[in-house]
Amino acid sequence: MNTKIAASILSADMLHLHDELNRLEKAGTDWLHFDVMDGVFVPNISFGLPVLKAVTKQTTLFPDVHLMIENPLAYVQDFASAGAKLITFHLESKSNPFQVVQAIKNQHCQVGMSIKPDTPAKALLPFLEDLDVILVMTVEPGFGGQSYMHEITPKINTIRKMIQNRKILLEVDGGIDAVTAPEALQAGADVLVSGSYLFRQTDMHSAVCSLRKEFPVGK
Ligand code: DX5
Ligand code: ZN
Repeated sequence: MNTKIAASILSADMLHLHDELNRLEKAGTDWLHFDVMDGVFVPNISFGLPVLKAVTKQTTLFPDVHLMIENPLAYVQDFASAGAKLITFHLESKSNPFQVVQAIKNQHCQVGMSIKPDTPAKALLPFLEDLDVILVMTVEPGFGGQSYMHEITPKINTIRKMIQNRKILLEVDGGIDAVTAPEALQAGADVLVSGSYLFRQTDMHSAVCSLRKEFPVGK
């Protein structure tokens, strides 16, 4: 399967978001990774529903919403209405995970579950039947620009083996760049989230190719 690149717009130039979306499309990214932080589940506040609504109207990239919020159950419907196609929530949040999964399905969105660095792979086992995406955090959630935690790589591999015969995509988030991407891919990642690395490039197309380990073709 081709590696998908999910661009985290947490690191985009917020004053020129429309230009940034065009830049991502031209560079060949696949997904638009939208990090929602509530200042409670993580010690940072990002952006929310009005921004998602505006962004999804202006892009053809697949809207991948990563909820780093304490009570995802209360907001599933709102994020679906704002244009989310995949809604990923944290197993460590306060909501009942079975109810959140059902609420996301009821909105006809894809279901993603994310785990923080300290949460073991086996915590995902009761949910595998219902998941479209597993999002493994390779940094503590809350901020872009942190370093990839190499000690999480074996967990990516464990999860890859766990989901071998299922149609679940394995997404990895945090500290992904041209140096760490091969390690995550080797361990079995299908989707790479990249924020600070992508947005600091002048030639984003080459950077996307370097993450996928492809040679740039055309522009
Ligand atoms: C961190 C977010 C990430 C972040 C990734 O809590 O979930 O999506 O934007 O940023 P980089 O690629 O800079 O680590
Ligand atoms: Zn994220």
